[in-house]
Amino acid sequence: MFHIPVMPLETSRYLIGKPGGLYVDCTFGGGGHTSYLLDKFKDIKIVAFDWDEDSSKRFIEREKEFNGRVVFIRDNFKNIKKALSALNINKVDGILADIGVSSKQFGDLDRGFSFNSGALDMRMDKRNSLAAKEVVNSYSCEDLADIFYKYGEERKSKQIASAILLRRKRGIINTASELQAVICSVKRPEGKINPATKIFQALRIFVNSELENLAVLLSDAPELLNAGGRTVIISFHSLEDRIVKHNFKRNSECGIYKTLTKKVVTALKEEVKINPGSRSARIRAAEKTSV
Ligand SMILES: C[S@@+](CC[C@H](N)C(=O)[O-])C[C@H]1O[C@@H](n2cnc3c(N)ncnc32)[C@H](O)[C@@H]1O
Repeated sequence: MFHIPVMPLETSRYLIGKPGGLYVDCTFGGGGHTSYLLDKFKDIKIVAFDWDEDSSKRFIEREKEFNGRVVFIRDNFKNIKKALSALNINKVDGILADIGVSSKQFGDLDRGFSFNSGALDMRMDKRNSLAAKEVVNSYSCEDLADIFYKYGEERKSKQIASAILLRRKRGIINTASELQAVICSVKRPEGKINPATKIFQALRIFVNSELENLAVLLSDAPELLNAGGRTVIISFHSLEDRIVKHNFKRNSECGIYKTLTKKVVTALKEEVKINPGSRSARIRAAEKTSV
């Protein structure tokens, strides 16, 4: 399978509040959640977003199996309002976003998401101009350190940024494995975790403006939901989860949402065994009130 959907049962329980209706899967990926939802709820339809060309190809390959119940839009989900309005859709019954990297993206060594990649790219949407290679090879030491600290919460951000600038004097850093070697010259492994993990995470978040996209989606979601409609977000690290938690809390205090997940929901041990990628996934869900 292209991508095993994370916590499909929990996701569907929180997302689908009533029979039938129109839902948005903001992160189609390999179509794991979309096809699970369509199978389980025969009377729903889905508008699916993904900005990655591979996902769009994957949709085309699977289109027949969806029987006309899915419309696919290759776009950034931060444009959800405009894109739905272009389809004459004003309101939907649920919005789902599963905002990690797909296993396909991670496994493709030309994409630069994994440490041993050939390229230093990390763009989920290749139409965007800024790739990790440009950031690593042209940004100032201060800017690199800021990115590593802000998006990776890396304590050695300044030392790693300085090591990158020193390494740049010997030529361009072309590959993810070259970058990993520079990071490892400053930072020792902590247990089983690769020392480059936080820096790779920071670069990916920065290159794809991941936190900004999530913030726009969360801010537009209530307006797009019917009363009783739900927003369900699956996130994979604390920076994203914090944004979701605060958005749901603020909107609940204003009476716009009712939070459905008092505590963050994580995968059961049994799922983590079968799908290790679900280990760090966290679900939060909220329901639009009748206001
Ligand atoms: C973890 S995967 C989703 C997997 C999917 N739920 C499944 O079960 O197959 C995340 C997907 O979201 C997409 N994505 C991330 N940020 C996006 C954004 N701002 N706009 C559109 N797609 C985005 C990525 O390209 C990737 O394909």
